[in-house]
Amino acid sequence: MTDRPGDLSDESVSELDISADEIRRIGSAAVELIAGYYESIRDRPVFSGATPREVRERVDQALPETGADFDELLEVFRDVILRFNRHNGHPRFFGYVASPGTAVTAISDMLASALNSNVTSWRSSPASTQIERLTIDWIKQILGYPADAEGVFVSGGSMANFSGLAAARSLKAPASVTGDGMRAVERVMRIYMSEEGHHSITKAAALLGIGHKNVRIVRVDDRFRIDINDLTRKIEEDLRDGHLPFCVVASAGTVSTGAFDPLGEVADVARAYNLWMHVDASYGGFAVMAKSARHFFDRISDADSISLDPHKWLYVPIDCGCVLYRDPAAARAAFSHDAEYTRVVERDPDEAFAFWDYSPELSRRFRALKVWMMLKSVGTRALGQAIEKNILCAKHLARLVEASEDFEMLAPVELSIFCFRYIPASMRHELEGASRERAEEINRALDALNERVMIELQRDGDAYLSNARVRDRFSLRGCIINYRTTERDMEILLEDVRHIAKRIEALD
Ligand SMILES: Cc1ncc(COP(=O)(O)O)c(C=O)c1O
Repeated sequence: MTDRPGDLSDESVSELDISADEIRRIGSAAVELIAGYYESIRDRPVFSGATPREVRERVDQALPETGADFDELLEVFRDVILRFNRHNGHPRFFGYVASPGTAVTAISDMLASALNSNVTSWRSSPASTQIERLTIDWIKQILGYPADAEGVFVSGGSMANFSGLAAARSLKAPASVTGDGMRAVERVMRIYMSEEGHHSITKAAALLGIGHKNVRIVRVDDRFRIDINDLTRKIEEDLRDGHLPFCVVASAGTVSTGAFDPLGEVADVARAYNLWMHVDASYGGFAVMAKSARHFFDRISDADSISLDPHKWLYVPIDCGCVLYRDPAAARAAFSHDAEYTRVVERDPDEAFAFWDYSPELSRRFRALKVWMMLKSVGTRALGQAIEKNILCAKHLARLVEASEDFEMLAPVELSIFCFRYIPASMRHELEGASRERAEEINRALDALNERVMIELQRDGDAYLSNARVRDRFSLRGCIINYRTTERDMEILLEDVRHIAKRIEALD
């Protein structure tokens, strides 16, 4: 660096450029708020129940022409944004598949934004790139995936699934789909997935020009796992019809029930028919760290690509998904491109490394920092114990349900997802001896009752469940991926559900 003449102190300072002291002041205020939030999260309502209008009316709608004080903005954050949101980190938030985040990883997101590196390639962000590659290596080790596989963090499981299928499509298509487009492929390309597979797979098929109708939906067994006989039957059928089976998607933890497809058997079918095997482990992938779930992952290393979501069961905040490819060249064939502005001029292979060769994204935030900080600050042992505790909580709930008079499980608990319904004793008894028509009527009434229970539970704000359709019945569904949740929370949940159901029954 050369010394430059001239004194810059006279030049007017942009309002965007605040002093170091001011940064310290606003940063401390924000961190204080974060600490208070984490401290009070268990005592907050999970969900405020406010209407869109009520929330809208609390926020100044005018486009700001001049700046406001940061303290004022923090006040809006505290009094409106924080108050009127759903608190995914609450120990009794069981909806969907939502990570609670942690304090360290929230702060690492702030650090990543302050540094604002654009993690496109080594040249663009040397240290961030090294941290991402190292963290991806650790994830491969956690899973037992080959060391020479490649991977990249993406926005989430949907983008990871899209990326895995894009690599599959370009490798297995009989023509260059990246160059000539899908018109060059004369046969209908077919993907196979169980009826419990995630909709992001069908969405990816639609976006990749394969067509969502060409995702063949395979039946499941009594544990909601892909039925291998039905899978082979459908592949054979398609071959007879002149189609091109090219990819099978196995679920490592389905979104509705947490079912885990038998990876070894799916891998055998994939090898027999020359299919790309993609494993959607967005929800269940990190359960490999829990001793009781490890057996599910035998033969995961056979997968050609895997989707994982650190922003689910690695407890890091949104956004952070991850896709791994066993054959990095297959991913590069799908995503590499030539442009002068991205031409890599370095000779050392590590310096020439570019993430844009492995996903659709070019500009990327430093997602790896929070994953690296999570793994470094806690370690795999404590993470495995937290995941195991989540599984035990789900099993505890199942035991309570099975021992009760007025609840029933609708699916087995495989990981930390539980599906059950409220069923008053009178309806349970009537159902036992009912004709088919009468049983259908009773079940429909139970569907409606449980749906009302779910809505009122969400509004009450003490606990939060979402729903699933299980063998065509409405199910109360919960997913535990929160290190704060205890067995006592599971008991409170059932007390809440029972209380609300009785309140509804008393009104009717
Ligand atoms: C099994 C499975 N796959 C894919 C996804 C999509 O992940 P994301 O929401 O991160 O895009 C989910 C989300 O819950 C999921 O459970």
